[in-house]
Amino acid sequence: MSQTMTFSVALASLLAQEQPSQEQLVCLLKATGDDLVELISAANRVRQQQVGDAVWLRGLIEFSSYCRHNCYYCGLRSGNKSAGRYRLSPAEILAAVRQVAAAGLGTVVLQSGEDAWWTTARLVELVQGIKEQQPQLAITLSVGERSYADYAALHQAGADRFLLRFETSNPQLYAELHPGTTLVQRLECLHHLQQLGYEVGSGCLVGLPGQTLADLANDLLLISRLGLPMVGIGPFIPHPDTPLADATAGDVTLTLKMLAITRLLLPASNIPVTTALATLDGSGRQNGWQAGANVVMPNATPATYWQQYELYPDKAQLGDSLQHNLATLLAQITAAGRHVGQGPGSALARKEYDNAKHTAQ
Ligand code: 5AD
Ligand code: SF4
Repeated sequence: MSQTMTFSVALASLLAQEQPSQEQLVCLLKATGDDLVELISAANRVRQQQVGDAVWLRGLIEFSSYCRHNCYYCGLRSGNKSAGRYRLSPAEILAAVRQVAAAGLGTVVLQSGEDAWWTTARLVELVQGIKEQQPQLAITLSVGERSYADYAALHQAGADRFLLRFETSNPQLYAELHPGTTLVQRLECLHHLQQLGYEVGSGCLVGLPGQTLADLANDLLLISRLGLPMVGIGPFIPHPDTPLADATAGDVTLTLKMLAITRLLLPASNIPVTTALATLDGSGRQNGWQAGANVVMPNATPATYWQQYELYPDKAQLGDSLQHNLATLLAQITAAGRHVGQGPGSALARKEYDNAKHTAQ
């Protein structure tokens, strides 16, 4: 069979919601020319039918750049002694959350390195404080691996969602890039979060050194198997103060193909365009929204800290304040023929609503 014919079969089977094989996914990931255009427009169509034209804004607060982990790719790794470290106080975080709420956003994302100062007790207090002040806001945590009991306490305190990428589904590559931890441990955390009823987001990096198309196809199979309501996928960008300084960055087009296939695998999910994609491609956000994405996470961290939260260098920056970021994003969203989603924009709620409609019929 020619590449194009195999491509058509693979695309048709995804559109029919059939479980794809690893080979079919590799074939889709190799798409070029007309096939590539067809894959992207199919994802855009499914996005439009399933989640509409809204782009959801999530206010991102990067509240601590301390991290006990030593991931090979990340500028915040503990081994990077030249990284600028900062930790926002609870009062500073609450002030940033108020700005997110005042700007009319429906979700706040609290992200940090794995910082021992932020014990679960302190995080619980913070989450409760936010819920008291802004009960309408959905709270997403992205604070890494904790115990089942800790995740339970945080959920009980009011955390609605949790982001924890599995980074790569290749266990050997995972072990090489994450000293002292394993993929099994990561997947166990994801399982706990799902069991506890969090709306869970996960995903992977594209273009890690040594990663193959078969690995990426396996990442997609894992995303599909986990049935994730939120999927974050971004290109790897080498950071000069890490062991991967001289590695090549992930490919932008390959990242867009990963987003498009994810939309076809999980039609009702929330998929952000990542800052990493926007960093490598000046039109990354617009291209991502045309390839199946429907979310963006403007930075709501106080601007003085932005440069210190350096997972990778030259992080794309929209403006110099949340207001400025939002104005730029609004212009980009409108220019893409889309509009800003109102409220928390939960994919789980959307699914439950659809199920209820289905059962009522
Ligand atoms: N390039 C791109 N993404 C990175 N992340 C960490 N370091 C890098 C890098 N060098 C991503 C990881 C992590 C998320 C918060 O940031 O996937 O889960
Ligand atoms: Fe820490 Fe996350 Fe960076 Fe790993 S990717 S070093 S866990 S901040």
